[in-house]
Amino acid sequence: MKVLLLLGLVAVALSEVTRYDGELVLRLKPVVDEHVQVIKTLSESIKVDFWKPDSPELVTIDIDVDIHISAPHAAMVFTMLQQSGMEHKVLIGDLQTAVDGQRDNNGISPRAHSYEKYNSLETIQAWMSTMASTNAALVSKQVIGTSFEGRSIELLKIGKKTSTTKPAIFLDCGIHAREWVSPAFCQWFIKEAVSTYGADSQMTSLLDQMDVYVLPVINVDGYVHTFTTDRLWRKTRSRRAGTSCIGADPNRNFDAGWCTLGASSNPCSDTYCGSSPESEVEVKAVADFIRKNKATIKAYLTIHSYSQLLLFPYSYTYNLCKDHSELLSVAEGAASALRSLYNTRYTSGPGAATIYPAAGGSDDWAYDLGVKYSYTFELRDTGRYGFLLPESQIKPTCQETMLAVKYIAAHVQKNL
Ligand code: ARG
Ligand code: ZN
Repeated sequence: MKVLLLLGLVAVALSEVTRYDGELVLRLKPVVDEHVQVIKTLSESIKVDFWKPDSPELVTIDIDVDIHISAPHAAMVFTMLQQSGMEHKVLIGDLQTAVDGQRDNNGISPRAHSYEKYNSLETIQAWMSTMASTNAALVSKQVIGTSFEGRSIELLKIGKKTSTTKPAIFLDCGIHAREWVSPAFCQWFIKEAVSTYGADSQMTSLLDQMDVYVLPVINVDGYVHTFTTDRLWRKTRSRRAGTSCIGADPNRNFDAGWCTLGASSNPCSDTYCGSSPESEVEVKAVADFIRKNKATIKAYLTIHSYSQLLLFPYSYTYNLCKDHSELLSVAEGAASALRSLYNTRYTSGPGAATIYPAAGGSDDWAYDLGVKYSYTFELRDTGRYGFLLPESQIKPTCQETMLAVKYIAAHVQKNL
């Protein structure tokens, strides 16, 4: 055990941390098919890291396209944009400055757990153990699986302990590694649950009647990789025969129209669907857990960033799901509750029509399994910082998101 730890530390010390000096994030506004073609051609000739949408296959006219490009390619890219007449602007002029700037809640010890900082996996997992042991009447910890690199995937079950099984809500975070505000929200939710139980009437009634499973980091290997090596890593860290490219997109790896739309079969793509549904052990662990508890799980909530969206099924087809009108009205209610605090505006709707069709997502999979209230949140912001949302925005982001999650939970409770 000690030897393994030491080897791990040495490996981290030896590996290079990727720097992003002079790299740019641009927002492009394609309005004609030629513009879309220009973006696709560009992505075939140089390395383009897609921030929004998640990959070149998902680019269409009349959407904002946020891309991260390297410094040496900047001049060429600007020439290409000018020649095509495509509207564009610089969102982030120097990515390294933004990476350095996101951890702006200084004065808090970097190793200690904080609800207003981006905590490392190690810190999160130690904190989870403490939360379970110091709130034993309400919280218990469960290991639901092991990642590709051998880390444990852990959740907290929160709810008043009873002799009978209670209906439950499943909430997960950190499926995409670089979306750091997502795990921060799951931690915030746990804190709020524990500290307002018995004081806040809604939280008390929720945890008396239901259990909430909170999984702060699904993609544990990817999350660690964003701390040690590459801040902008998205996928899992699985290796496979026949390619040197690493990882698959866990939100394209669920068994819901798997790899038919808005996903890539190229292992080097950021939206690679994996070699088969649930090929990623992290995805299988979550799917197994939800299948095992499907009789009790009434709602599935999954947290991503960024774009300020509240999405529900379907994303693998443009067809509306059979609960469309109810899911839409609950989403709109949740979005207006969220907006009431800081006037943050969210767009809600079914995934395919609201952003883009993309198959293999956890929301569609849970819905088709029978979990009616299935929602994907895309938290702040709309692109000013993107994935590099400063720590100073964790608190307001989590506070407003709590209002939306509690709105949905109240509706679920009313309809048990
Ligand atoms: N940005 C998220 C993703 O691409 C949105 C997920 C919406 N749901 C879906 N099943 N595609 O993973
Ligand atoms: Zn995501």
